[in-house]
Amino acid sequence: MKTDFNPLNCRMLCQQPQRLNIWSAWNEHVPFAMSIVEMTLPRVIVELGTFAGVSYSAFCQAAAALATATKCYAVDTWMGDEHAGFYGPEVYEDLKAHNIQYQSFSTLLRMTFDEALTHIADGSVDLLHIDGLHSYEAVRHDYETWLPKMSERGVILFHDTAVREREFGVYRVWEEISAGRRHFHFHHGFGLGVLMVGSEIPPDLAGFFDAGEARPEALRALFSSLGHQLQLEVERQQRERRDAARETARQAGILGGARRLKSKVVTLVRSLSSS
Ligand SMILES: C[S@@+](CC[C@H](N)C(=O)[O-])C[C@H]1O[C@@H](n2cnc3c(N)ncnc32)[C@H](O)[C@@H]1O
Repeated sequence: MKTDFNPLNCRMLCQQPQRLNIWSAWNEHVPFAMSIVEMTLPRVIVELGTFAGVSYSAFCQAAAALATATKCYAVDTWMGDEHAGFYGPEVYEDLKAHNIQYQSFSTLLRMTFDEALTHIADGSVDLLHIDGLHSYEAVRHDYETWLPKMSERGVILFHDTAVREREFGVYRVWEEISAGRRHFHFHHGFGLGVLMVGSEIPPDLAGFFDAGEARPEALRALFSSLGHQLQLEVERQQRERRDAARETARQAGILGGARRLKSKVVTLVRSLSSS
């Protein structure tokens, strides 16, 4: 039975996330990531483009909390790309350590998106998140190659739908494929498109799309304000860490200065007593 989207009934909406990252553009969508797991109770989630794992860990955290028995797959080379920038192996190692708590249902596939196609059965994915290279050609390719993997309940998320610079083309793909399908578009956090591609809409998600049609700005305001709080929190923690590091360096400087002064005094006393 279809139920109208009611934030008060959404357990995951205000969950405190276990993983945020100052370098991720995804912090502001974490409340929605957790909520869509609750709305769709997906059997299989695949993410294309994981980096430090903010979005992916939000999916896993919700799946664990709700005991949905979801199988989760994160696909990434964990090397970076032209838009996200390139990075070292420590990003993957850090996520791998965080992912241990989810290892009974979560798999990190360290490979290209095309290589991962053979690891996932056709028609099996209920929730796909496309967040790799953001050029028009790359996003269109990821969408077309992964569409056959989607189940009859399939929903696809597209990140960076609001970015119109640095040759990002997600917004163009979004314009082309969202018409004629049930969808919703968040403007905040660089834009996030939610697209129904299966024919069987999970009842709670249908209620969400209905709310999006009836009161789009109210729905956007709800998720963007919750997401914004998380982003502010990440920035606050970053400032605290930076201030603590500065204080440690300052104290080390004072101590170093005191040690140097002491050794000068000792040398002076010795030279006075020997003269
Ligand atoms: C924007 S980041 C993902 C951000 C992430 N979803 C988050 O929550 O912060 C894009 C990632 O996609 C990966 N990537 C891009 N193209 C890829 C491809 N064809 N195969 C595998 N990984 C790819 C990059 O290594 C990078 O880590």
